[in-house]
Amino acid sequence: MELKNVILEKQDKVAIITINRPNALNALNSETLKEINVVIDDLANDDNIYAAVLTGAGKAFVAGADIKEMKDMTTMEGRKFGILGNNVFRKLENLDKPVIAAVNGFALGGGCELSMACDIRIASAKAKFGQPESGLGITPGFGGTQRLARHVGLGMAKELIYTGKIIKADEALRVGLVNAVYEPEQLLEEAKKLANTIAGNAPIAVKLCKEAINRGMQVDIDTALRYESEVFGECFSTEDQKEGMTAFVEKRDKTFKNR
Ligand code: CAA
Repeated sequence: MELKNVILEKQDKVAIITINRPNALNALNSETLKEINVVIDDLANDDNIYAAVLTGAGKAFVAGADIKEMKDMTTMEGRKFGILGNNVFRKLENLDKPVIAAVNGFALGGGCELSMACDIRIASAKAKFGQPESGLGITPGFGGTQRLARHVGLGMAKELIYTGKIIKADEALRVGLVNAVYEPEQLLEEAKKLANTIAGNAPIAVKLCKEAINRGMQVDIDTALRYESEVFGECFSTEDQKEGMTAFVEKRDKTFKNR
């Protein structure tokens, strides 16, 4: 599939995904969602990529699902569109390598939801977040009613979703929606730095950490800790565990091979 609205670049072990429909503030139409899906498959199948950064071209990260495409949808079409977005975002959330959202501008509706399907969010001081859907007569449809409360707690999620108010980056930092705020011109470099730090660790261990954290958040603590013990044990079957620990003992640099 030829990519028109998404750019995928690979720089050593890190992939940079850029949503690229700047004239529509990177609004997510069906075509763009399908392209994101293709990019996720590409990254899932690329053993040389250990982490990714997701950002937007121009002044927006993503200003939401495409309102022009949704405007005349029927019930069935609306449901289908919601399922498409949810499936793509869930696949991103389950990708076996970490994804950092570098939120460069508007992250509204589907844009805020896209950032929340990533593992880590960092933002430009110019970023703005919100779930303005109720002002359009709809509910958040790409995970917002579920993931926002998991990130910022029930009361704050309900306030943001019921009011549709837009918050600035410093407020997003305060409520825990983003990990850090940077000057706009530093954002991408900081995101790449973070991705490269992650990519310097054993990729299988990082992948298992992601799985354990994500699965553990959805189940009771005993089930979660049993799963943790399982993945912990699994690490000892990898060459990278032997390498990491041997390098420590021998006081030398380690070289991980993703094996
Ligand atoms: N869908 C489609 N087009 C969009 C869009 C969206 N979500 N957001 C912006 N655009 C388009 C505008 O229509 C405009 O196109 P034209 O030049 O053809 O008119 C272009 O992008 C530039 O936008 P503005 O002129 O509006 O730019 P601005 O700087 O004045 O305002 C903004 C920026 C405040 C973000 C404003 O564009 C805006 O409010 N956008 C909509 C935000 C929104 O409501 N998002 C939620 C969508 S619903 C959703 O996401 C559902 C879900 O959960 C799945």
